[in-house]
Amino acid sequence: MTPAEAQQRISELRAQVVRHDELYYRQATPEIMDFEYDRLKRELADLEAQFPDSGATDSPTTRVGDDRLEGFVTYRHRQPMQSLDNTYSEGDLRAFQQRLVKLFGREDLGYVVEPKIDGIAVSLTYEKGRLVRAVTRGNGIEGDDITANARTIHALAGELKGTGARGTKGAPVPDFVEIRGEIYMSLAEFQRINREREEAGEVLFANPRNLTAGTIKQLDAREVARRKLEVVLYGLGFCEPALDQSEGADVDLTGTQSGLHRLLKAWGLLTVERFWTVRGTEETWRAVQELDHLRHGFAYATDGAVIKLDSFAQQREAGSTTKAPRWAIAYKFAAERAETRLNAIVVQVGRTGVLTPVAELEPVQLAGSTVSRATLHNRDEIARKDIRVGDFVQVEKAGEVIPAVVGVNLARRPPECSAYVFPLQCPACGTRVVQYEGEVAVRCPNVECPAQIRRRVQHFASKAGVDVEGLGEAMIDTLVEKGWVRGIVDLYRLRRDDLLTLGKSVEKSTDNLLAAIETSKHADLWRFINGLGITHVGVAAAKDLAAKFGSLKTLAEAPRDELLSIGGIGETMADAIIAHFNDPLNQVLVDQLLNLGVAPTAPARPADAGAAFLAGRTFVLTGTLPTMSREAATAKIEAAGGRVSGSVSRKTSYVLAGEDAGSKLEKARTLGVTVLNEEEFLQMLGA
Ligand code: IVH
Repeated sequence: MTPAEAQQRISELRAQVVRHDELYYRQATPEIMDFEYDRLKRELADLEAQFPDSGATDSPTTRVGDDRLEGFVTYRHRQPMQSLDNTYSEGDLRAFQQRLVKLFGREDLGYVVEPKIDGIAVSLTYEKGRLVRAVTRGNGIEGDDITANARTIHALAGELKGTGARGTKGAPVPDFVEIRGEIYMSLAEFQRINREREEAGEVLFANPRNLTAGTIKQLDAREVARRKLEVVLYGLGFCEPALDQSEGADVDLTGTQSGLHRLLKAWGLLTVERFWTVRGTEETWRAVQELDHLRHGFAYATDGAVIKLDSFAQQREAGSTTKAPRWAIAYKFAAERAETRLNAIVVQVGRTGVLTPVAELEPVQLAGSTVSRATLHNRDEIARKDIRVGDFVQVEKAGEVIPAVVGVNLARRPPECSAYVFPLQCPACGTRVVQYEGEVAVRCPNVECPAQIRRRVQHFASKAGVDVEGLGEAMIDTLVEKGWVRGIVDLYRLRRDDLLTLGKSVEKSTDNLLAAIETSKHADLWRFINGLGITHVGVAAAKDLAAKFGSLKTLAEAPRDELLSIGGIGETMADAIIAHFNDPLNQVLVDQLLNLGVAPTAPARPADAGAAFLAGRTFVLTGTLPTMSREAATAKIEAAGGRVSGSVSRKTSYVLAGEDAGSKLEKARTLGVTVLNEEEFLQMLGA
């Protein structure tokens, strides 16, 4: 490569990396897999090393990605948050260790091997043991203040446990400490949210990391509280007094990364599920492999191992480059991928008419299970990747569960393969499909489409709907095929005589089914609201709407500003609700349901201002608050769906403490319950 060619390629690569950094860090919608991104970046770094005159000081290789967004206050880290060099190669890992062996002149260096958590980096500041701030990495120097959002994380300790008393062993609490870790979302929560979106016909999140990134940067903490986030901590930023200087420290707890893990735990923080303390390269490699085996059982997605020099003194001596420490490296596990033949593309029609293409594959082993179907997302994705029936495609587990087709092996494309044509007509009813402006989804617009009816009735009768026992998919298929059910209301018009024709000795099951349908008439109001399948409205919003409006009729007539007064219901959702009830068919549906004797059970106490985002949370009040009476605080908590209790226990979610707080505060501290002052409390309520 001539210097001119190299310069050309370097410019291209820099532009690409900058673009993908923007997509990944700020917009949380990456277009390429981590592996491809890392490869681009590696190629760029290699070229810059070969051609040092290329102006590398202004390259994305020398910076960390920037996650800062409009709308957040920024905060300057007391100690910068660095990134890590990463590699997929065992050779690179050994070379990293060889450099350290050379530097220290000894082979048996001690390392810690720990999981690399695929989440969003966070820095928590505790002053005198109290959580005062949570900040994203930002550009490494300053990040976005996400304190209000982070406080919705249930497991996040508001206070550090510790003794700190002179001469005692244990875990002294520093005056000021930055603790680093990752915010993540469990696979179960990720799937729950995606299921709701799928039902609402919305585009799915690709993986838990993107969803976490999008969630933590919501401007409304109440929105964040709806999605359960978690945290895991593994590192230290600025600390005063420095750990090895604090008096009364149990020496074992300081001076090393392995000691830091124990110290974090002693402070009552959540740390990595496992780490290995090893010596030399062979033991390191064995630990990395063991981690690779164990990581699938971890609560968080683990995309690699981080190998760190154990001794802080040695870390200091090894130092850093502008971007990353020389004492640590990330070894990333290659995503599990398999190549197989795409036998067919079937298009499914959802409840809202969205057409979802699914790949039928030649069965192949992937990450411990046989995969024969994978999602193709939507029409645009198939076109963008030019995926054709007969192709050999790569499948990968996105978020490590749902298999997705990520690419095509063009070298193996059979000559007779022709470009895939997405159906122009609904595969279930033959109606011409439509694509609304600004949507990626292709839809069947026919509300009478049997596929949609089936899905709508299934959704209405499901566990998240009015929950009719004995009304499974097969039964619904039959009812729709027979023409007895053409919509939700028809469930309440089923005739016993018709049902009895379905077979011999079906008397008992028929009566059970009819009884279950009868019972469902009095199901909780939110179940009906969710069951109606209003676009964007999932279980959480349905509960808020039920609490606010108390009846189907009131909801159906609710003006836009009243909908918007509910925390967590934004413009998009409000408009969808209005549009839903503006449709005469849906108005008739509500009237018909009520005429057929449907009488939903309204929530006991309609919550003021909606936002039951504190549902399930228990507060204990203690001391005198600066501006608020206890009654006022209690009313606010209850209006948001929370409970107030008199005594502190492990089950207490928060203690709201004012002046002269006494034993309750003490107890909260010993139990590690999050303590809030009035200001923090109001911030959490979004006031
Ligand atoms: S140590 C200076 N340890 O990975 C050391 N980072 O690619 C910096 N990460 O920015 C971080 N798990 O957000 C460290 N066990 C772990 C980690 C970890 C995940 C993240 C972190 C970092 C990024 C670097």
